[in-house]
Amino acid sequence: MKLVLFNLREDEKSALNNWIASHPEVEVDVHSEELTASNKHLLEGKDGVVLAQNKPFEKEVYEYAKEQGIKVFATRSAGFDIYDLELMKELDIKMTNVPSYSPNAIAEHVLTTALRISRNTNKIQRNVEKHNFTWNPGILSRELRTLTVGVIGTGRIGTQAAKLFKALGSKVLGYDIYPNDAAREVLEYVDNIDDLITNSDIITIHMPAIKDYNHMVNDEFLSKMKDNSILLNAARGMLVDTKALLRALDSGKLLGAGLDVYENEGKYVPKNFEDKEFDDELLQTLIDRDDVIYTPHTAFYTETAIQNLVEGGLEAAVEVIKTGTSVNVVN
Ligand code: NAI
Repeated sequence: MKLVLFNLREDEKSALNNWIASHPEVEVDVHSEELTASNKHLLEGKDGVVLAQNKPFEKEVYEYAKEQGIKVFATRSAGFDIYDLELMKELDIKMTNVPSYSPNAIAEHVLTTALRISRNTNKIQRNVEKHNFTWNPGILSRELRTLTVGVIGTGRIGTQAAKLFKALGSKVLGYDIYPNDAAREVLEYVDNIDDLITNSDIITIHMPAIKDYNHMVNDEFLSKMKDNSILLNAARGMLVDTKALLRALDSGKLLGAGLDVYENEGKYVPKNFEDKEFDDELLQTLIDRDDVIYTPHTAFYTETAIQNLVEGGLEAAVEVIKTGTSVNVVN
């Protein structure tokens, strides 16, 4: 069996080498560049393609893949919106993804952020830098075991986040349009989202980005939150109206916010702007504030997650080539 893998990143090398060593029957041709029309000849003689594209590729690449007998495009990611699923269906090429690679990575990040905000670590650090070593109400903290955490979207990540908060003694509420039994074991479902908003000291969002829910967290949502509460978003940036959030922070309504995603992040993440002009005032405001912890979509970024993404992509490709299908086929 012959696979070709594109866009290999430095952080994936060790997982890839381990997989190749334990699968001597599979030949993997590895490239650091993305697949495009100009290097499509690299598909020649291969059975499957393993990808992690940042840019879509041309129609002629799909057609060439078909001519070469490629059976599967396997992405090393959960998202697959930049691929042309319709065309692949027409060409009878399967597309696979890795839907779940480590919900715990994101849950652990959310817990970390909740602790950093609730224990006022940014404010204490800033005081210490100014040699202000006082104890004062501005840094008086609350313990997680005294707080109620509200989880919006109780799927893979939401349920794992609920488990971690519960383990530290928090009361955990959940809201989901499709409640499930696994989540019910660790949280108490509320029937409507308002009950969750008004009763939670920490709200953490883990639902998908759905067009109708653009800016779901707006002025009205924020005004219903408890005084001194915390908002966490490690789902998708479009779910939160950043300007409304800043108004709620400025008014003192919220203690803080933890944002691993930002509504306009597409332009910047994951890129290095150290020596480049950076003109997003809204994001700069988030970065500058003590009461906001902004991270560039790094909640998932752990060794375990990267290993699972690499292995998941390769295994799905092998499965489709051997059996014609896989549970991770998305078209
Ligand atoms: P999932 O599909 O397992 O769970 C999503 C849950 O949201 C489901 O239970 C679903 O019923 C629920 N839901 C859908 N619409 C809803 C609504 N209107 N109100 C309340 N609940 C609703 O998804 P998973 O894997 O847990 O991912 C959750 C989010 O995390 C997604 O937005 C995903 O894009 C994001 N994510 C973020 C990462 C990061 O690094 N920050 C990495 C991976 C995923």
